[in-house]
Amino acid sequence: MDNSVIPYGRQNIDQNDIDAVVNTLIADFLTQGPKVKEFEDKFARYVNAKYAVAVSNATAGLHIAVMALDLKPGERVITTPITFAASANCVRYCDGEVWFADIDKDTYTLSLESTKELIESKPKGFFKGIIPVDFAGLPVNLEAFRALADKHDLWIIEDACHAPGGYFTDSKGKQQWCGNGNYADIGIFSFHPVKHIACGEGGMVTTNSEALYKRLSKLRTHGITKENMGENHGGWYYEMQELGYNYRLTDIQSALGITQLAKNDLGVVRRNEIASNYKRAFKDKIKYQSLPKGAYNAHHLFIIEVEDRKGLYDYLRTQNIFTQIHYIPVHTLPYYKEIGYGDADLNNAEDYYSKCISLPMYPTLEEEKQTYVIDRILEFLEKNTK
Ligand SMILES: Cc1ncc(COP(=O)(O)O)c(C=O)c1O
Repeated sequence: MDNSVIPYGRQNIDQNDIDAVVNTLIADFLTQGPKVKEFEDKFARYVNAKYAVAVSNATAGLHIAVMALDLKPGERVITTPITFAASANCVRYCDGEVWFADIDKDTYTLSLESTKELIESKPKGFFKGIIPVDFAGLPVNLEAFRALADKHDLWIIEDACHAPGGYFTDSKGKQQWCGNGNYADIGIFSFHPVKHIACGEGGMVTTNSEALYKRLSKLRTHGITKENMGENHGGWYYEMQELGYNYRLTDIQSALGITQLAKNDLGVVRRNEIASNYKRAFKDKIKYQSLPKGAYNAHHLFIIEVEDRKGLYDYLRTQNIFTQIHYIPVHTLPYYKEIGYGDADLNNAEDYYSKCISLPMYPTLEEEKQTYVIDRILEFLEKNTK
C-alpha cells in the first residue's frame, strides 16, 4: 500500500471527464451554451423531478430557493443544527429568522418529533418553512415532514447536497429519490469536489412546480427574463423584473457535471460497499449512523461516534488518515451565538457533536486502505478503552 495521506473525501476524475471539459473549451460556448441545459435535463431525469436549474453552488441555490418561496424579513424557518452553515444562512440572506429543532440521536437527521414540538409550541403561522437535510447521504422521510408541513401551511426545501442517488420508501412502498420534488417544494444539490458529483463549484435546484422553476431561473440570472418580448421589440429585448443574482453555472462546469452524473450510480454502490465493510468491522463495538427501513443512504459520509473523539482524530492523523468532523452545531458558531442562538436546548445535537467523526469515504478508496483505516481505529479503541 502506498503511504500517501488518506483523506475523508475525494473527487473521482477520469479521462472521460477531462475530455468533456477540453471539448467544451474548444467549442463555441464557455458559459450559457448547450451544456447547461443538457446537464439540467439529465439531472432532472436522474432524480425524477420535472425541472432542474443549474447554479454556481448550492449556497446560491438555497438562497434563490428561499427567495422563490417568498420569505419576508422576520419570517421564521426551521432547520437542523447538524448541517453545513449554508442550510441556515440562506434564511439569514433574506433577513429571516432561523430556528433549530434537535436531531434524532440515531439517524443524526432533523427529528420529526422535535420539529413537531417546536411548531406546536407556537401560534399558527409562526413558521413559514422547514429545511430538512439528507445528512451524510441519509434521506429524510419527507412524506412524514410533508404531512406536518401541510397541517401548518409550511413549505419544505430539501437540502439534498449529500444525497444524489439516495431514496426513502414511502407508505405506498414507492422509492422516493432525493430531490424528486414529490414531497418537498424544492431540492438542492452541491457539486463541490468532496460531494458525489464534482464540478469544482456548482449546484442544482430541482422542483416539480412550473411557477417555482420560472422564478428560480429568473433569480439565477439577475431577475431577468426574455418572456415578454411583444411584437414591438427586437431580439435584444429583455426585462429585469426583480432583483436577482448572477448565480449561473458555466458550460465548462456543466460538461464535467454531465460525465460525473453518469458515474453517480456506480459511485453510490461503491460507497455502500465501503459502508458495509465499516459496519461489519464495527458492529457491536462502535456506534454508527443507523439506516431506517426502506432507506438507501447515498453515503456522502460515514460517521461513527466515539468517547475520545479528539484522541482518535489526532491518532489517525499520525497514521496519515485525515478524518473530518461534520458538523460543529450551527447554533454554536460565533455568528449565530451573537445573534442569540447560543442557549438553544439541543442536547442530541451537542452530544452527537462531542463524539462524531467522519471516516474516509469515496468511491476510489481501495480495499487495503479501508482495512488499514479499520485496523487503526480498532487498535486505538482497544488501547484507550478500559
Ligand atoms: C448540507 C450542505 N448544504 C449546503 C452546502 C453548500 O454547498 P456549496 O459549497 O455548493 O455552496 C453544503 C456544502 O458543504 C452542505 O454540505
